[in-house]
Amino acid sequence: MDLERCLVEKRSCKSYLDKSVPIELIGEMLKAGTFAPSAGNLQNWQFIVVRTEEKRFAIAAACHKQDWMRGAPVHIIICNDVKKVTDMFSRKGKLYATQACAIAGQNIMLKATDVGLYTCWVGSFDEYALAKILKLPDNIVPEMIITIGYSDQLEQGMDRVPVERVTFFDEHGKNVVEKSFFPLSKYGENVAKVLEKATGINQQQESSEQHKPLEKLRNWFRK
Ligand SMILES: Cc1cc2nc3c(=O)[nH]c(=O)nc-3n(C[C@H](O)[C@H](O)[C@H](O)COP(=O)(O)O)c2cc1C
Repeated sequence: MDLERCLVEKRSCKSYLDKSVPIELIGEMLKAGTFAPSAGNLQNWQFIVVRTEEKRFAIAAACHKQDWMRGAPVHIIICNDVKKVTDMFSRKGKLYATQACAIAGQNIMLKATDVGLYTCWVGSFDEYALAKILKLPDNIVPEMIITIGYSDQLEQGMDRVPVERVTFFDEHGKNVVEKSFFPLSKYGENVAKVLEKATGINQQQESSEQHKPLEKLRNWFRK
């Protein structure tokens, strides 16, 4: 899948099919994670793959009862070996360590999208409870959980603040006037509006069975 499609299709998914994810695909996603940059190339991430129902249910509870997580057949917890980084970068090490894990997380989600999977980043959890479930050593901090699975639902609500509104040139507050600098600005619209424009079909009015929004989006990109 090309990168633009990946960016557009990578919406947070909270509704998964009861279909397992092949282990090779999990391996591919994790491998993509390890291509993330990291301060001093310290690669301070560690991944825990959770597939058992018992642990997934416990993790959902530790995420302040985000019960939708139970339906995701795979949870990947990205853990941070912070000390590895703070030993070398005393002042900004903690920040660098978190940033590297976050980039690994984004790589994992993009690769998931690339192979037809859906994800959601979960950052809201009780750190102590999660550490206990995963038997984390004291020096290893859980940074985020990525839920992964198959889905047949394209999430709505990808509204984005238009890129030209959050971009300045040379100094803060100096706005852009030339919109064509931003080829991605077309994605700063609600996906339903993008689809309506591309397909001429109002997704809200049409039944989802009749016009699967994701299919439409894919067809639109193929044009
Ligand atoms: C740091 C961070 C923490 C997040 N934590 C949660 C979470 O705990 N639960 C959840 O449902 N979504 C969580 N999300 C997902 C966001 O809600 C989602 O990315 C955002 O609404 C944009 O939607 P989109 O990903 O579909 O574009 C989190 C995202 C980030 C980056």
